[in-house]
Formats: sequence, C-alpha cells, structure tokens
Amino acid sequence: MTLLDVSALGVHADGTPLVDRVSFSVAAGERLGLIGESGSGKSLTSLAVVGLLPAGLVASGSVVLADREVVGAPDARVRPLRGAVAGFVFQEPLTALDPLMRVGRQIAEPIRRYRALRGAALREAVAASLAEVALGEARIARAYPHELSGGQRQRVAIAMALAARPQLLIADEPTTALDVTVQDEVLTLIERLVAERGMSLLFISHDLAVVARMTERIVVLRSGVAVEEGPVDRVLRDPQHPYTAALVASARALDDALGEGGAA
Ligand SMILES: Nc1ncnc2c1ncn2[C@@H]1O[C@H](COP(=O)(O)OP(=O)(O)O)[C@@H](O)[C@H]1O
Ligand SMILES: [Mg+2]
Repeated sequence: MTLLDVSALGVHADGTPLVDRVSFSVAAGERLGLIGESGSGKSLTSLAVVGLLPAGLVASGSVVLADREVVGAPDARVRPLRGAVAGFVFQEPLTALDPLMRVGRQIAEPIRRYRALRGAALREAVAASLAEVALGEARIARAYPHELSGGQRQRVAIAMALAARPQLLIADEPTTALDVTVQDEVLTLIERLVAERGMSLLFISHDLAVVARMTERIVVLRSGVAVEEGPVDRVLRDPQHPYTAALVASARALDDALGEGGAA
C-alpha cells in the first residue's frame, strides 16, 4: 500500500523553480531517504508533503498522503493529516518546543488532542511517551526546554511528533544540530521507534552515511531535481549519476581517512 505518493512536485518562488518535478513514493512501513547538499530542495520537498511551505512559495504537481491530495488543498483539509498521519521532526528541536512550557505539558497537548485522554490516564500516557524516548526520569517532565541538553530536547520533539501515532515520520536533518556523541543515540532511537510501530520513514540528510544507515531506498536531489533513485545498496555500489558518484566517493574518502586515523 502506498502511503505517500509525490508526483511531479514543484515548488516555486515568483516563477523560479526551487523544486522541479520531483517524484517518489513511500509504501507503508518503508524507509525512504532524501539526500542532497545544502540548498538542494530537501526541506522544501518535505514541507510541501505536509502543506507547510513558507509564505510566498507555491507548490505544483501532486502529493497524495493517505489518499488525500495536499497540493492546492485548503489548509483545513490538510491540517488533520499533520501529526495524525505524518509526524514531523525538524533539525532544530527548539522550533517544535515552547520555551515557556514544561516539557511534560507540551507532550500532554497532542496526546490529549488526538487520543482524548484526561487526568490520570493523560499523566500516564505522558510518562509512557517520555519513557519511550528514554527520558523516563520524573524531573524531565517538569523541566523547561532550556534546562535540557540538545539531545534530550530532540527526544522530546520526537515524542511530540509521535504522540498522535502517525503512520509516517518525516525527519528533516534530525541530528545535524546535535553533538556527534548524541547523534548516534538519536538515530538509534528513531530506528527503534519506526521498527516497533511499523511506521514509514521519510528521512532527510545531507550525510550519505546517515541516510544509508537509516533507509532502504534513496532519492538524490540536486538543485531541486531528483537525479537518481534506487535501493541504498545499489546506489552505493553502482551510482548512475555523476553527482551521486561524487557523493559516494567523498563519503568513502572520509571513511578511509577515519580508518587510517587509527581508530582503536
Ligand atoms: N522561503 C523561501 N523563499 C525563497 N527561496 C527559498 C525559501 N526557502 C528556501 N529557499 C531556497 O530554496 C532552495 C532549497 O531550499 P531547501 O529546501 O531549504 O534546501 P535543503 O533543505 O536541501 O538545504 C534553496 O536555494 C533556498 O535558498
Ligand atoms: Mg534543509
């Protein structure tokens, strides 16, 4: 079953194409990666999927999410899909968090809205939701976002994105703003949650090694155009487009350099 079908998607600013006829689909339970250098159109593509393009940008083509057309639909038709069908995790966790609200209350908000829980049942669901992202200590629920580390904040943002039990998780550079030491923890967490819940994943990164780890199939974007698509192992082994070949070669060179660095 196809959960997300993106067909000839365009994003334009005053007629200038920023994303140009991009097509891909994500089946139920599938993990798809979007890779490309900064400015290649990854974020605009993922925002268009949930109808959240910045003001002044216009989408064309088609995005069908859970059988509903997003492009050109009034916001009232798309809003119910956000959170409930597709959860979104951004690069910077603070964009998803209210600085003035304790994190327990922030997580309670979507749980109450989507799962109609109240009182003790709501408190239990909040605690379970925090425990699920390995933030089980009681003090975390009472903390304000600035009292948490970057990795802890991203865990809270992930818990919020999953509160309504979406079928698809869209993660746009979810570890790029984090210290290298916590990147792996957050990636492992996303892998575990996606597997446990049987969710689909649209995972976006400029880092080929990270995308290869997280997904089964990748779409390579360059200057708003999808230049290559295929299973991760095939793309790594036998890239068809020179741009993909360059990405693979530079990831290999980095890998080799790290290997020669005499890692223990
Ligand atoms: N609000 C906007 N108005 C005009 N151009 C934009 C806007 N947002 C992004 N862009 C441009 O669109 C292109 C793709 O941006 P983006 O999708 O954010 O790239 P990526 O996520 O791959 O780094 C870039 O050239 C960027 O400068
Ligand atoms: Mg981006």
